[in-house]
Amino acid sequence: MIEDALVALKNGGLVAFPTETVYGLGADAANKHAVMKLYAAKNRPAFNPLIVHCASVEQMREYCAWDDRAEALANAFMPGPLTIIVQRWPWGKFPEPDAPSVSEEACAKLPTIALRMPDHPVALELIQKYGKPIAAPSANPSGMLSPTRAEHVRQHLGDVVDVILEAPNPCRIGLESTIVDISMRGSGWELLRQGAISQEGIEAVLKMPPFPKDEKIRSPGQLLRHYTTHKDLVLDVTEPLPEDALLVFGVAPHPAPRHTLNLSPESNLEEAASRLFAYLHLLDKTDAKRIAVMPIPEQGIGVAINERLRRGAFRPY
Ligand code: TXA
Ligand code: MG
Repeated sequence: MIEDALVALKNGGLVAFPTETVYGLGADAANKHAVMKLYAAKNRPAFNPLIVHCASVEQMREYCAWDDRAEALANAFMPGPLTIIVQRWPWGKFPEPDAPSVSEEACAKLPTIALRMPDHPVALELIQKYGKPIAAPSANPSGMLSPTRAEHVRQHLGDVVDVILEAPNPCRIGLESTIVDISMRGSGWELLRQGAISQEGIEAVLKMPPFPKDEKIRSPGQLLRHYTTHKDLVLDVTEPLPEDALLVFGVAPHPAPRHTLNLSPESNLEEAASRLFAYLHLLDKTDAKRIAVMPIPEQGIGVAINERLRRGAFRPY
């Protein structure tokens, strides 16, 4: 299967592959036409840049202006569920004409690049054997629930993907990578997306707190409505209606609605994160009117779970 995927990438095709966070939809990051096909397949706006996936830190260094912050984060967390945003070339310099490069479209023509080394054997083998970085957003139609199983990709993007790689245990974390922006001059950093690696974990490595969050949106993806279910999603429900599709964390109510799934009967937040998208996909397919979610503690990876849920529940009208 990997061989088919390599051929597809070489021919400008799209390959879905498992990572430890969510399924990615990959294209050759250097192939402008493949990258444009990727945006079209997801119906993703062209201003929303992609994460460039590498098989090693050495490979990453070739595509950006690497610095001490990047080195420290790579030592601590790579491979793993972390994406760093860095300058593509050193401050005040122009890119070398023959330097290794990804297509402008992959970075939405920004002077920065998002880099990540996934911690999954299938993803790493694919990128390593391909020999070049692979641009990969999550393998879902833009704005919809993220995919954590091959079947999610088949169901929602099956007709536009050339190869879907399988794995016995894909996406053990279940939420997208933490995104840390270290592209600003100096030594600061900003947290652009919550994930399994916590803000405290990053702080401990970079030895300073993040810049305070301002109102300005720095990650173009944060502009968008996201993680949308077809049914209405209602949060912090303690007394569900019998006709709800219910997502429980911890002890389920008695009697529980007919369509009830429990993210973690033992109230384990990591387990809940790993099941979140898969269970939302399932409840979204029931005949219930709405999906009700019981409260989830705002601790550890619970912060990232709640951020996804809040954005999923947001309806701009
Ligand atoms: O865990 C993950 O990160 C998964 C797996 C497949 O690796 N990928 C993923 O990609 O979540 P995507 O495209 O769904 O989310 C990438 C986010 C978007 O919000 C995008 O705006 C942001 O990263 N991003 C990419 N390049 C950026 C840049 N240069 N500056 C700021 N944000 C950037
Ligand atoms: Mg996504």
